[in-house]
Amino acid sequence: MAGIPRRGEDWLSILRRLHGVLKRVPDHYTGGILGSMTTPPHPLGSLVFQLFHLYNINDLELFAELRGLEEEAVSMMGEIMGCEGCTGMVTSGGSEANLAALYLAREHGYDTVYVAPTAHDSVFKAARLLRMKLVEVGLDGEYRMSARILEEKMEANGPGIVVVTLGTTGLGLLDPVEKIASIASSQGGVVHVDAALGGFVAPFLYPERRLGFQNPAVVSVTMDPHKLGLAPIPAGGLVVRSEEWFSPLVFKSSYMPAGIQIGLLGTRTAASAVATWAVMRHVGMEGYRRQARRLMGLARRFIRLAESRGLKVAAEPEVPVVCLETGDADEVLKRLASRGLLLYRCGVVEGVRVVVMPHVTYGHLKRVVEVLTRLQG
Ligand SMILES: Cc1ncc(COP(=O)(O)O)c(C=O)c1O
Repeated sequence: MAGIPRRGEDWLSILRRLHGVLKRVPDHYTGGILGSMTTPPHPLGSLVFQLFHLYNINDLELFAELRGLEEEAVSMMGEIMGCEGCTGMVTSGGSEANLAALYLAREHGYDTVYVAPTAHDSVFKAARLLRMKLVEVGLDGEYRMSARILEEKMEANGPGIVVVTLGTTGLGLLDPVEKIASIASSQGGVVHVDAALGGFVAPFLYPERRLGFQNPAVVSVTMDPHKLGLAPIPAGGLVVRSEEWFSPLVFKSSYMPAGIQIGLLGTRTAASAVATWAVMRHVGMEGYRRQARRLMGLARRFIRLAESRGLKVAAEPEVPVVCLETGDADEVLKRLASRGLLLYRCGVVEGVRVVVMPHVTYGHLKRVVEVLTRLQG
């Protein structure tokens, strides 16, 4: 491994080396990256990111105008999730947003977390970091959080924060938010909606459902611009019902001109928030609706093709994540990878999954089916 050179290296030799690196890392467009929730961002996002990456948005006095754009970005996300007048922040991703959301709940006196085994790892990580009590809630017959089991568990363990997932990482399902929220509320609890993946798709696909703040028990939502919001990495979203609920994330700063900073970090690049703002303004509700329909349509075509070849789909997804029940996921993933197809594990089901992100084409999906059919045959 090369150490730090005594005399600095010139640009050209550094860039030459990095060019080689870029040629070796997997590439989204050739179809290799089929399990990750990352996708090339909208070019406007990349441009704006470059322009604003040098400003610290957590310097709330010097860059108050940039914090204003962050507030607008959060408010747009809130609108998608059924909220007017919500507040919050752009985070580094879904994990930070979930950690911050559980921290808020704990500070408001809810120190028990009710969570299904299909929730994202970051929820379990956050509960552990915050030393909150974790109560696992079993699934119904279709891999969603069971409202009946939640009620029993809350009766036995008392109020807490229930984390529901909109777009489970392994199976692309929506937990029954409306039912869960009404149970949580009747048991004196609150709800956090982890819509890291689903936030930019589910409200567009199921406009008749109350998936977010329309439920009074919902206090916060995670939805990630750097997944299906088309913003560059890193950009997560934490949307919170009120200033009052958000207030534990406002920390005293002994030296910053504003006297406060917000969130779990100190210095935060303005690039994430401003690029998110720009991309959301540009794509608009109609753009996200079109994208959601296109990706879900592609996922359904993939399912039909897979089933016509005798492959088994674990569950009919509600957001564009398709899990194929293959058995021995590690072995199947290895074999797919040796053919350049990089899928991930489903988790609760022994199988492999594809996330149909904007860069994924039907051609890529056909190849997955062809290779899997040969492997299974
Ligand atoms: C439902 C859900 N929540 C949270 C996360 C974590 O997001 P990030 O990787 O941006 O921290 C993910 C990532 O896949 C996710 O699917």
